Amino acid sequence: MLNEFSGADGMRPADAMALTVQSVEDVALGVKKFVLADRNGNPLPAFEAGSHIEIILPNGITRAYSLLNSPTETSRYVIAVHKSPDSAGGSLYMHEVLGAGDTVRAAPPRNNFELVETAAHACLIAGGIGITPILSMIHRLCQLGRSWELHYCARTREHAAFAGLLAELAKSSGNAVRFYFDLEPNGSRLDIGAVVAAACEGTHLYCCGPKAMLTNFEEATQALRDRAHVEYFEAKGPAAREGGFVVVLEKSGLTLTVPPGASILDVVGDAGVSVSSSCREGICGTCETRVVEGVPDHRDALLSDAEKQANRTMMICCSGSKSGRLVLDL
Ligand code: FES
Repeated sequence: MLNEFSGADGMRPADAMALTVQSVEDVALGVKKFVLADRNGNPLPAFEAGSHIEIILPNGITRAYSLLNSPTETSRYVIAVHKSPDSAGGSLYMHEVLGAGDTVRAAPPRNNFELVETAAHACLIAGGIGITPILSMIHRLCQLGRSWELHYCARTREHAAFAGLLAELAKSSGNAVRFYFDLEPNGSRLDIGAVVAAACEGTHLYCCGPKAMLTNFEEATQALRDRAHVEYFEAKGPAAREGGFVVVLEKSGLTLTVPPGASILDVVGDAGVSVSSSCREGICGTCETRVVEGVPDHRDALLSDAEKQANRTMMICCSGSKSGRLVLDL
């Protein structure tokens, strides 16, 4: 993942674990690796390749980070954090304040970027810190003895976290990794269209990186439908804030009007109905809500086109309504 997204603290306290920072290590220019473990040494909730955890920092900010270690490890979660020049306090805090021995709260892992373990071949594309969920996938593919290839883009070799480890994993498993360092003399740029065009039948393709890379990937894989997988770390586009529709909360028996400028999540929360949330921009899935009736205006980066057309669920933090009335399972 871009590897962090901002969010309000919508995590339910009962869900949160206390994790101790075991170690902090520089792994590339502007990137630190953090090893987290249960404060009392207990096994951690299991996770799948591609999962992330949401961390509530001691300064109250919630951030989500992809797990990069092997899903077979039960004693630790490993994340890497890129220090963002636009940080609102998340990556800055992680880099400049959080240290070994500190404690953070975190929600159990969630997975919006699932690896299809039975695929004939996996083509993995990563940009910058987007390597983190991809690295966990590679650990898993190596354990399964599956065929994979990695295309990893970074500004220079010094910016490419885990480049040495990835080269070793590729060599020891008989798979291929190719690096693209566009700011180096004689550096190269990845042609996503060419990589996608060369993918054999049965290949599943995965991409995690900056928004421009994900847009290119989605354009190039339009015809591949459920064989193409992306993970966004920032909003895919503007949230629906047009308002002017009614939301009926079926279980609560409330009918609410969503005014221009407000999100459904805000209006529902103001009415006293609690819905968990984190990113508030359609990239984490925490606020996913079942739609009983009506046509949502989907603005999230999670649901597939088919899921959006089915209108069974929606992310109420960023999506609106195309119909004048929306009935939700709340
Ligand atoms: S809160 Fe993250 S998708 Fe809605």
